Amino acid sequence: MDEKVDSFLKVHEVFYPSAETMEKAWIRDYDKAYAESIKDIPGFWERAAHELEWFSTWSQVLKWNYPWAEWFVGATCNITHNCLDRHLKTWRKNKVALIWVGEDDSERIFSYAELYRKVCRCANALKALGIRKGDRVAIYLPKIPEQTVAMLACARIGAIHTVVYSGFSAPALASRIEDSQPRAIITADVGYDRGKVVPLKPVVDEAVAHSPCIEKVVVVRRQKPGITLSSPKEIDWDDWLKEQKALCAPEVMNAEDPLYFLYTSGTTGKPKAVQHVHGGYMVGTYLTTKLVFDLKDEDVYFCVADPGWVTGHSYIVYGPLLNGATILMVEGKPDYPTPGRWWDLIERYGVTIFYTTPTAIRLLMKYGEEWPVKYDLSSLRILGSVGEPINPEAWLWFHRATGGKLPIMDTWWQTETGAILITPLPCTKLKPGSAARPFLGIEADVVDREGKPLPPNTGGFAVIKTPWPSMMRTIYKDPDRYKVYWNTIPGCYTAGDVCRKDEDGYFFFMGRADDVIKVAGNRIGTAEVESALVSHPAVAEAAVIGKPHKTAGEAIKAFIILKQGFKETPEFIDQIKDHVKHELGKIAVPHEVEIVPSLPKTRSGKIMRRVLKAKELGQNPGDISTLED
Ligand code: PRX
Repeated sequence: MDEKVDSFLKVHEVFYPSAETMEKAWIRDYDKAYAESIKDIPGFWERAAHELEWFSTWSQVLKWNYPWAEWFVGATCNITHNCLDRHLKTWRKNKVALIWVGEDDSERIFSYAELYRKVCRCANALKALGIRKGDRVAIYLPKIPEQTVAMLACARIGAIHTVVYSGFSAPALASRIEDSQPRAIITADVGYDRGKVVPLKPVVDEAVAHSPCIEKVVVVRRQKPGITLSSPKEIDWDDWLKEQKALCAPEVMNAEDPLYFLYTSGTTGKPKAVQHVHGGYMVGTYLTTKLVFDLKDEDVYFCVADPGWVTGHSYIVYGPLLNGATILMVEGKPDYPTPGRWWDLIERYGVTIFYTTPTAIRLLMKYGEEWPVKYDLSSLRILGSVGEPINPEAWLWFHRATGGKLPIMDTWWQTETGAILITPLPCTKLKPGSAARPFLGIEADVVDREGKPLPPNTGGFAVIKTPWPSMMRTIYKDPDRYKVYWNTIPGCYTAGDVCRKDEDGYFFFMGRADDVIKVAGNRIGTAEVESALVSHPAVAEAAVIGKPHKTAGEAIKAFIILKQGFKETPEFIDQIKDHVKHELGKIAVPHEVEIVPSLPKTRSGKIMRRVLKAKELGQNPGDISTLED
C-alpha cells in the first residue's frame, strides 16, 4: 500500500472519563505519567518489574543490540510463580481465580489454591512423560479450564507451549507441529459451537499420523460415555493427573528463556512461530492489564477471547493471573443461545471489566439495544476492544448499550508485541475510532517509508521506535523473518498497519499495509489461502483479497483460474470452499469465490492484489505502470 493514505474519517465527539472513574484509577494524569516513563524507559520498566517476584535479579535492565533485545539480563524467574505462588502467600489464596461457563451453562470455579494444585498435578504429569525444560508441547483444546491449566503447567516446568486454535484443520495443525516439533499434544474429544458438537480428536488423529515427533496424546474427555482411546500413545487427562502430587516447584528460568510459540500469519504461506519469553512478557502483560483496565482486587474481569489466540494468552491467562484477578472465561458465541448471552453473564457474575472485539460488538448491534436493556449491567466500569479497528458507529453503540457512561479502551497491539502498546487509559479523553496514544514506556509514531514522521492526519506506517519488554524475541527457526520487522523502516519496528495521528497525537488505525486480512479480528495471510486454493486439483491460480464486511470487518474474496479441462458446475464453488476448510479451517474459507480467465500481474509475474481489490471496490487502482496486461 502507498504510504500516503488520506483519511477522511472525522471525529465529532469526544468523551471524558467520569469523576468516579478518575478518582479510583491507578493512573490519573496520562501526560505526566507518560512524560516521566519516556525520560528513562528501562528505569520505568524496572520499577514495574519490582512489583513482581524474581528468584534472582538482573545485572542490566535492557541489552539492546539492534534488532535483538534482552530484558532483565541474567535474572531468573518463572512466570507461573507470579501467577500462582505469589498469591498463595496472601489472602488471595482462597480468592476465585477462574470462573468458567460452558456453552451448555455448566459452571466450574477455581480458587487460586485450586488452580495451583491443578497446574502442579499437570506439571508433574508432564514430567512423568519425560518432558523437560525447552521441550515443546502442543495444546489443541477448546476454551475449557484445562487449556489454561495445560499452558501454566508447561510454563511451570520450562516446557514451551504452542497453543493452536481449535478451529484450525488437521493440515494446519500438522504444519505447526512439524515446525515446532512438540513431544506431546493435549487435546479434547470435542468442542461445542452453537449447540453443535465439533469433534476435535479426529483432527488430531489426522495431524498426528503425519507427525512422528508426537510421543503422547493426552485427551480431555468431555462426552459421556468417553470416546475410546485406541493407540498406546493416548492417555486420558483425568487418569494422567490422578496419581500426581499437587506440589511442583517451578523450574528456575532465565528471564530470556522461551515461554511459548504462537503461530501467526504474515505475507508468505508459512505461518510464523512468534517467540515470547518468561521475564519481559511477564512484566509487560502484568503492567498493561493492571493500568489499561485499572484492575483492582474487587473486579470480575471478562475477556471474550480464546487462548488459541494471543489475546487469550496475554489477557485471559497471564496478565490477569499475574494481577491476582478473578477471571470469567466463557465458551461459545455471543448470540447463542440468545443475543442476550454475554449481557446475561455480565449480570449473573457482576462483571466489572468487559474486554471484547469490534466484530462481536457489530454482531450484537444487529440484534439491537433491546437485548442489553433487559439486563442489569450496572456492575460494569471499564470496557475494552481489540483485534481490528473499531468503527465509530460500533464504538458509540457499545458505549450507549452499556449505559452511556463507561470508558472504552480501544487497545492496539499484535501477537508480536505480546502486550497492549497503543491504548487509552481510564483517565484519558476518548475519541471513537481511535486507539488513543502510546502506553507508558512506549515510543510510537506514524512515519513514511523512510522513517520520517508525518504531519497530523496524514496516513502512513505505525511504528514503535524503542524496544519494550514483551516484544517477541525472534521467529522460531527463522531469525531473518524477525529482522524484517526492524529493517523495513529504518530504525523502527514496523507493525504492518496503516495509521494516521490527529493533531492531539491520537492514533487512528486504518487497516493492514500488507497481505494480511483481518476476518472477525483473526489474522489470515492471503498467501496461505491462495496456497490452499491451488492445492485443489481444478485450480490453476488463485488470488485473494480482503473486502469490507459489515460484521466481520473484512471478508475473504478469492479469484481463481481453472485448469484446462475443468468446468464450473453448480456444486463447484462449495467444493472449493470445503477444500479450504479442510486445508486451513473454517475461519479461512472465502466468503466469495469468483472464477476468472486471468489475474492482474506485474511483468515479473507477481499477482497485483491491489489492482484486484481496487476493481472489486470500484476504486482507482493507483499506479499500474508495472501491470503486464
Ligand atoms: O492490524 C492490527 C489489528 O490486528 C493486528 C494484530 O493481529 P494479531 O496479531 O492477530 O493480534 C490481535 C490481538 C492483539 C494489528 O497489526 N489490530 C489489533 N488491535 C487493533 C487493531 N487494529 C486497529 N485497532 C485495534 N485496537
